[in-house]
Amino acid sequence: MSAHIINGKEIVASIREVIKQEVQELVIQGKQPGLAVVLVGDDSASAVYVRNKAKACEEVGIYSEVHRLPTDTSETELLSLIGSLNNDDRIHGILVQLPLPAHINESMVIDMISISKDVDCFHPINVGNLLIGKPALLPCTPAGVMEILHTLNEPIAGKHAVVVGRSNIVGKPMALLLLREDATVTICHSKTKNLQEITRQADILIAAVGRAKMITKDHVKPGAIVIDVGMNRDEHGKLCGDVDFADVAQSAGYLSSVPGCVGPMTITMLLRNTLEAARHAQASV
Ligand code: GUN
Repeated sequence: MSAHIINGKEIVASIREVIKQEVQELVIQGKQPGLAVVLVGDDSASAVYVRNKAKACEEVGIYSEVHRLPTDTSETELLSLIGSLNNDDRIHGILVQLPLPAHINESMVIDMISISKDVDCFHPINVGNLLIGKPALLPCTPAGVMEILHTLNEPIAGKHAVVVGRSNIVGKPMALLLLREDATVTICHSKTKNLQEITRQADILIAAVGRAKMITKDHVKPGAIVIDVGMNRDEHGKLCGDVDFADVAQSAGYLSSVPGCVGPMTITMLLRNTLEAARHAQASV
């Protein structure tokens, strides 16, 4: 048996087309959505992600500005930039690319972002709203994974979903979104004992650990849906996920590719959140 490989390109293109049309409608009303991306330091992976985000904005007609700050930027300078973006009417979404240099307190920076412009859904108030199921902007990567799952037309309610990884950006919010759709959710992490025993029970397996090719065929129940959130370099420097693609493709029911599926879908959710934030700003004027 070999897995159906999920075609991220088609899903992303169709959602971005809808976003583009909706952005145009706002532009006609003189309310172009705007995103500010803040990058501190010269991490090369972050620089690529930020470039891709700005390019995606341009493609759908969202105004974007990228603030590239040197590594030695002080916390005060960064907080002051966020303060001015909070008060800028052209900007509806603010994204501070993580990780930040070690001398900057990440949570202080996130706390400073206006709740209504927090298109990452990183602010504690927005995380709390997500936890209690209050409607708000959804975190981009987990929301993108849910969109991918919806395209498969396979039921989620009552299924056993196993999330490997417990980061604030992916693992924890991923578990909440699956729970919202009535999956039975297990979260595994680096201290989990007998990982394979647990992952082999998964109908839906989400790999979000950040370790190249660590999920093998032995971790996967035949026929399971496997979504790979990882973005790593293998021993040859080639981009790869947390899933050993060739191995798992032999027995999974569905498998997402890396690169080309969760990554572009995450950016698509960022575009959608920026559009939504602009709509809310318009409604509250
Ligand atoms: N670094 C890695 N992923 C993300 C993300 O989704 N948002 C931000 N702001 N930084 C990241």
